[in-house]
Amino acid sequence: MAVALRRRSLTRILFALGLGCFLRLIFFSSSSSRTSSFYTPDSLDIQEQNVLERVTRSDKTLNVQKHKFLQVRMGRDDRDDLLADVIRNGVTDYWERFQKPYITGKESAHMDTQSVLSSIDQLLSLNGWVAAACPTLTRPFGQNKHEDAYDDLAQQGHLYYIGIVIHSADHFLVDQLAVIVQMAKRLGTSNLFVSMLDYDSTDSTATLTDLCEAVLILLGVPFRIRRVPGMTEDPHAAYYPLEEAYMKNLALEPLRELFQKRAIKFHRVIWLKGFTCPNDILETIKVSEANEAAMVCGMDWAEHNGFFIFSDRWRTRDIDGDQFRQSKSSSKPDAVPPRDKTGAARYAQHLPFQVFCCESGTHVVDPAQSYYQGIAYRAGTDYHNLSSSDSVPLREPDAPCLDSSQAWFCRDLWVNKAGEGKKASELADGFQRRKRDNILEEEGVARRKEQEVDYDANAGSDYDAMPDSDVPLADVPPPRLSIPNSLFRPARILVNPRCVTTYAGVSHTQLALDLFGPQIDNDGIEGGVGKYMLEDWDGAPDSFVCQEQLQTGGRKATKTQRRLGFSIHDEMDRRIV
Ligand SMILES: *[C@@H]1O[C@H](CO)[C@@H](O)[C@H](O)[C@H]1NC(C)=O
Repeated sequence: MAVALRRRSLTRILFALGLGCFLRLIFFSSSSSRTSSFYTPDSLDIQEQNVLERVTRSDKTLNVQKHKFLQVRMGRDDRDDLLADVIRNGVTDYWERFQKPYITGKESAHMDTQSVLSSIDQLLSLNGWVAAACPTLTRPFGQNKHEDAYDDLAQQGHLYYIGIVIHSADHFLVDQLAVIVQMAKRLGTSNLFVSMLDYDSTDSTATLTDLCEAVLILLGVPFRIRRVPGMTEDPHAAYYPLEEAYMKNLALEPLRELFQKRAIKFHRVIWLKGFTCPNDILETIKVSEANEAAMVCGMDWAEHNGFFIFSDRWRTRDIDGDQFRQSKSSSKPDAVPPRDKTGAARYAQHLPFQVFCCESGTHVVDPAQSYYQGIAYRAGTDYHNLSSSDSVPLREPDAPCLDSSQAWFCRDLWVNKAGEGKKASELADGFQRRKRDNILEEEGVARRKEQEVDYDANAGSDYDAMPDSDVPLADVPPPRLSIPNSLFRPARILVNPRCVTTYAGVSHTQLALDLFGPQIDNDGIEGGVGKYMLEDWDGAPDSFVCQEQLQTGGRKATKTQRRLGFSIHDEMDRRIV
């Protein structure tokens, strides 16, 4: 297994290097401009000559030729390689004697422009290994049958922000780059902003981000590629939810800056996780628009003993607050990942369904309902630091859940949305508490009974993160909500089961067949749009499965779980104080 993995990553690195050489070859052989990231001194030269400006003639908001701050590299590993000075001398010599005169010369300048244009064309067809297979995978509702199905997205001219956090995951990066290039081709190269955060990677991520930089410069795609050291020197002294929050907030920094300093607003933020086909992402954007959703997630599928199981159970909760099942991709309707009835029924029809929280796979966030309203990623703070001499903090049974930063983000979305509909809470003040309390008590009893027979609830593991503990759910009394959550305006958080995210080693063809069966010809894309919409929206659950990391220990620290009440009204009160 390890050998196979190593061999695979080796092949990938070789491929990446090959691609790098190929890029260089194009630019050397055609004696035109050349990718700048490998040899930094030239990027300024190239920009001075306005080569890229001549070929792109962009007059858009995100004009990388006009605004240098739109293509930024931070924290690059600038240490010299072996023979770096020899290579640098050779390159400078070649540049000064052959390339620069060719670019600037009156007779050759137009030829140069032409060759840059054709190289960009070539680059735009970059497909990666996995992405190349996307059009052949089965998808419900004929998603892949119409080449122009997503042209209307491009015609809207909206700006999209792509966020990627890389934590030693170089095996995805080239394919993710291919997906970005495909998106740039469909949505317009200056309608995207790419924010890549390399969090303390120890694999070949640093080299591959050089490659990404080169490609994005040539295509005129705005970006910030940033490398940061770990939060703690010893990775085991880290608190993972805090790291998650830190990484995502850093990856969002350009979004906030462009908003605050330039009033540039993005229509949607796309978080790329693992590998997702471009059409699935475009469709998820449509689902997001059709529902005015705050967040729409895909679904993660990890390979496990020859079949595929739903991953990211740590961060995903159905609309009843329950953990998704660790279902197989081929599971029968009564054992699909979402446990709530409506969700399960819609999942079985491949339709988007509402959830309490998700991060599974590539997900699309509406910044107007979140980041632009001041919501940032955060994590609990009263965890126990095993490396310090502090004593274990005493925690009340109803202390805030020390779970993933995404779970905090979801709760913030619910509370924030409820705040928009304050009227509802005023109305609710006259609500008969007693009656509701009685109902809740009954519901609580029913729910606990259900749990007793639900053996899957505490078992299994999250392949994206770490094993769950086997500690059973604490038997907490049902929460008493002063105002029921259902009286507040619901946050629109959805899972689009047609947007599949997979990891290295997954047979995409088999997974697609498992999930969707053979390609069905009956539905055109017109029928599809209606299928994106959800008609009924539920309120937040009264309680949820809180799966928490009580102590430091990095990504793989032990987790425990309990069922914890969730009262939007109380949360709002807490925030006002
Ligand atoms: C835990 O304590 C150690 C030693 O005091 C410190 O270096 C580390 O940053 C702390 N970790 C967290 C997540 O607070």
